[in-house]
Amino acid sequence: MLKFVAWMPNNSIPEFECRDPQINRYYKEQLQTDIDVRACKAFFLFQDDNVVGFFTLLPHSIKNTNNHGIRKREHKGMGKWLSGVLLGHFAISNEFCGQKHSSGLKYSKILMFYALDSFECIVRNFCGVALLLNPINESVRDKFYIKEYGNLFKKYPTDDDYMYALTDYVLAVLK
Ligand SMILES: CC(C)(COP(=O)(O)OP(=O)(O)OC[C@H]1O[C@@H](n2cnc3c(N)ncnc32)[C@H](O)[C@@H]1OP(=O)(O)O)[C@@H](O)C(=O)NCCC(=O)NCCS
Repeated sequence: MLKFVAWMPNNSIPEFECRDPQINRYYKEQLQTDIDVRACKAFFLFQDDNVVGFFTLLPHSIKNTNNHGIRKREHKGMGKWLSGVLLGHFAISNEFCGQKHSSGLKYSKILMFYALDSFECIVRNFCGVALLLNPINESVRDKFYIKEYGNLFKKYPTDDDYMYALTDYVLAVLK
């Protein structure tokens, strides 16, 4: 059975390993502290007792763009900074990577649905112009975020490789 858990501070996180060494290092060395001091909120998906994957959400702002097209189209709420919520880490464990749940959906799709749903809870109770993410490398950006979620997340035209989905758009997708 699938189980989705918003992790509470001061509860030990489970063992986890994915294919990305940078995320594994962060998981081992930093995530527990970040959860405990509420620097981020971490969410876990389990299949029975096994960890399928996790992601984090945290407040974040990026420098706004001077791109005229974007400013004209999406000027609402955009000051000098574009403030929103960062999908900080998004990872599927080695065991479940590339695998499908018995429903036929990829586990990564189920985890992404929960990420959007958790983002919705945050912005319904607080604020945030966009859901932001900063892909860990170009391969993930192109082969995962653009390939599978290119309609949702767009590249943000600043120097630092951010992608974004406007909150209004995410809420519309979830309807
Ligand atoms: C990204 C991820 C959640 C996608 O899971 P998935 O939908 O089950 O799909 P896959 O694992 O088959 O990955 C999709 C593609 O992205 C590539 N990819 C995934 N993570 C990658 C990484 N960290 N570095 C380089 N390429 C990566 C895969 O090689 C694959 O490419 P392919 O289609 O050419 O085989 C999962 O691969 C993962 O957890 N990766 C490690 C953590 C990570 O990099 N998260 C992104 C943080 S920004």
